[in-house]
Amino acid sequence: MTHVVTDACIKCKYTDCVDVCPVDCFKQGPDFLVIDPDECIDCAVCIPECPVNAIYADTDTPEQFEPFLEINARLSKLWPTISKRIAPLPDAELWKDKTNKLAGLDLG
Ligand code: F3S
Repeated sequence: MTHVVTDACIKCKYTDCVDVCPVDCFKQGPDFLVIDPDECIDCAVCIPECPVNAIYADTDTPEQFEPFLEINARLSKLWPTISKRIAPLPDAELWKDKTNKLAGLDLG
């Protein structure tokens, strides 16, 4: 099992999740975070920390977000670790209620 970051995080990147992760499994792209499935220990403490509810257990991921399982696995091998909370993206408040943001994801 692992946990997975989904659409709501894109272009927001609040990073509250990062501070509570005991194993530093979050990886950072320009406008999105992902979880490395090989490092996640399934503690679930990140889930309630995300202000936009972007994180799910893989077994509990809504069907429309299932592509994010592969996206987290793939991008976590390309992006650097983030282990401390940083400021959200400048337009996070504008993007936080938008959906279907995947097409605009910045792969870096
Ligand atoms: Fe993204 Fe939520 Fe973390 S917006 S960076 S998954 S706190």
